[in-house]
Amino acid sequence: MRIADSWKDYRVIATGDGEKLEDWAGVKLLRPDPQVIWHAKKDLKRGVDAFYERKEGGGLWHYNKQIPEQWLIDWKKLKFIVKPMGFKHTGIFPEQAVNWELMQQLVKNSNREIKILNLFAYTGGASAALASVGACVTHVDASKGMVERAKENAKLNNISNIRFIVDDCAKFIEREIRRKNKYDAIIMDPPSYGRGPSGEMWKLEDNLADFVELCKGVLSEKPLFVLINSYTTGLQPTVIANILKSVFGPDNVEADEIGLPTNEGLVLPCGATGVKIWKN
Ligand SMILES: C[S@@+](CC[C@H](N)C(=O)[O-])C[C@H]1O[C@@H](n2cnc3c(N)ncnc32)[C@H](O)[C@@H]1O
Repeated sequence: MRIADSWKDYRVIATGDGEKLEDWAGVKLLRPDPQVIWHAKKDLKRGVDAFYERKEGGGLWHYNKQIPEQWLIDWKKLKFIVKPMGFKHTGIFPEQAVNWELMQQLVKNSNREIKILNLFAYTGGASAALASVGACVTHVDASKGMVERAKENAKLNNISNIRFIVDDCAKFIEREIRRKNKYDAIIMDPPSYGRGPSGEMWKLEDNLADFVELCKGVLSEKPLFVLINSYTTGLQPTVIANILKSVFGPDNVEADEIGLPTNEGLVLPCGATGVKIWKN
């Protein structure tokens, strides 16, 4: 497993009984986590600043004390906005830091200008991490609100080399193929289920293999990497590796679980990532 242990301002304090207690730059949040089927060693609700309650058809945040509507968290030289939102989101998937580091290193080692396509790009953590090391990033997400948040994160870090697109990812790729636009690297972090802006259905198990095949059409003649991340419960890293191998060839494909360390000495599993790397 690859463990995201590069945060100074973020940590998982404790876990148990379907919940995780996290410290986000001094603000303690308690959120549901379906992976946490073990018991808590203490009452996780004690001392929390806010907690998310899951309800039929949605959920909501409860506040035990007044906290800012949004605040900042540092990751290395970058800053990101933290904001409690619907669906228990905070605007950051902290475990993705392991992927940001890996991809930053690949871009730096390439010693050339790298064009990156970030698909299902959310609030732009990966976009900012990669643009900050000189890559030209195209950031695509179906949610206008998320793209606005990604723009704010870029602005916060004085980053200007990101092109922001609100679109359905498959439609965007089809258009880029017609326009003959190419990218040296592709990142994708698709949801288990989702809908594009015009209601396009996305179900990971049904759509991922075809989607990765489609993406082949926008890869440059000298690709650097393709990285696929998934939070879909039960999706084994080997499944991601097999998709990458079958579409791009079997060499230099790796896949692993990713996770976050907890203060209890446990590791919280946070999904799986696979990466195909071209050595050139
Ligand atoms: C799991 S989040 C990605 C997390 C992100 N990679 C990160 O680490 O910050 C999934 C994103 O996919 C977007 N999305 C869902 N369906 C989509 C579609 N068909 N086309 C484009 N974006 C979509 C959602 O708006 C959401 O922002």
